[in-house]
Amino acid sequence: MAKVKLTVNGRAVSGDCEERTLLVHFIREKLGLTGTHVGCDTTQCGTCVVHMDGKSVKSCTILAVQASGSSVTTIEGLAANGELHPVQAAFKEHHGLQCGFCTPGMVMTAVDMISRHGGQLDEQTVRKELEGNICRCTGYHNIVKAVLSANAEMHGGAKQAAE
Ligand code: FES
Ligand code: FES
Repeated sequence: MAKVKLTVNGRAVSGDCEERTLLVHFIREKLGLTGTHVGCDTTQCGTCVVHMDGKSVKSCTILAVQASGSSVTTIEGLAANGELHPVQAAFKEHHGLQCGFCTPGMVMTAVDMISRHGGQLDEQTVRKELEGNICRCTGYHNIVKAVLSANAEMHGGAKQAAE
């Protein structure tokens, strides 16, 4: 058994787990944060994306012990003061989801993407950077629209890019 200590959504947490435990299982089963989903656990679908020290990662691809000492943000940590994060609000507004299974991963990937590009996001870049997130329902069009809209909202960029 190994001891894992993390800061998750701003809160210090710790727990024992097997050395082979994946970060996503630690988050879901030890911490009860089930907004992070498991769609494949072979690094293909992106439903498990969280932020580790500010960067989006597939939490099925990282051992919990490897993440020990880091700061993790999950989908549950995005909303603040009862308000949806702008990316969550944009997914809602632009109907960027149907069944919702892929949505936590899509949103976490989008938040990181928007922050890395500092407002300079275009449709082609969004589509390329969403390559690691699979959605079986929406056809992606409204997801891309939502990401561009949130980018415009957060950076005051060209809103027409999202329309
Ligand atoms: S569960 Fe991690 S990529 Fe599918
Ligand atoms: S909304 Fe169903 S998998 Fe994306």
